[in-house]
Amino acid sequence: MDLTDEAQIATGLAQIQSAANRLHCVINCVGFLHEGDIMPEKSLQQLNSDTLLRYFQVNSISAALLAKHLLPLLNHSDRSLFATLSAKIGSIGDNRLGGWYGYRASKAALNMFLKTAAIEYSRKSKKTAIVMLHPGTTDTQLSVPFQRSVPAEKLFSVERTVRQLIDVLASVETADTGSFYAWDGERLPW
Ligand SMILES: NC(=O)c1ccc[n+]([C@@H]2O[C@H](COP(=O)([O-])OP(=O)(O)OC[C@H]3O[C@@H](n4cnc5c(N)ncnc54)[C@H](OP(=O)(O)O)[C@@H]3O)[C@@H](O)[C@H]2O)c1
Repeated sequence: MDLTDEAQIATGLAQIQSAANRLHCVINCVGFLHEGDIMPEKSLQQLNSDTLLRYFQVNSISAALLAKHLLPLLNHSDRSLFATLSAKIGSIGDNRLGGWYGYRASKAALNMFLKTAAIEYSRKSKKTAIVMLHPGTTDTQLSVPFQRSVPAEKLFSVERTVRQLIDVLASVETADTGSFYAWDGERLPW
């Protein structure tokens, strides 16, 4: 499904619901940093309204809509988990380098949407934990244009990142809902 289209989210989740009316773990890996002519902005001069909207649609609003439509599937008597890949670069407190306006701001907005959803879920779906994850720089097409400046030991394979994130998720309790974790389990500042 294209997560920028709410009708597709509703249809996709209805299809899942017809096969299974309870979900226990949903991991949302959707996001983008560059596509076509769009590259992360290095200066204010490069800001473009359509590009910024695209960042917010794909990286932020999509996850909020998923949280909206997943609620009935995650709300049941067992524990459930909704994890979304965010990025440390979306941390406002950790922003020392600047740049990458659209990606940074859209990940910060993603974190705020899901922190807010976590509070609503804690009233309506008491056994669900909603968490955001920073995977670390991982060797995917998303990071390829920026890998030159990354030391080899800090560029993770997809397999390593998956293992590390699954380990983090394994220790998440319902009370941890609304948290933002790095790949090593560290809690990141907003
Ligand atoms: N790689 C890194 O170093 C790194 C670092 C920090 C955070 N992250 C975050 O980790 C997540 C996964 O990134 P990745 O590295 O695995 O990049 P990726 O290989 O480019 O994967 C991104 C995924 O998002 C999907 N997607 C993009 N737009 C979509 C849309 N409108 N509707 C539905 N799916 C859509 C893509 O689907 P298609 O393949 O069908 O286009 C793809 O499966 C992203 O949120 C990214 O911001 C990655």
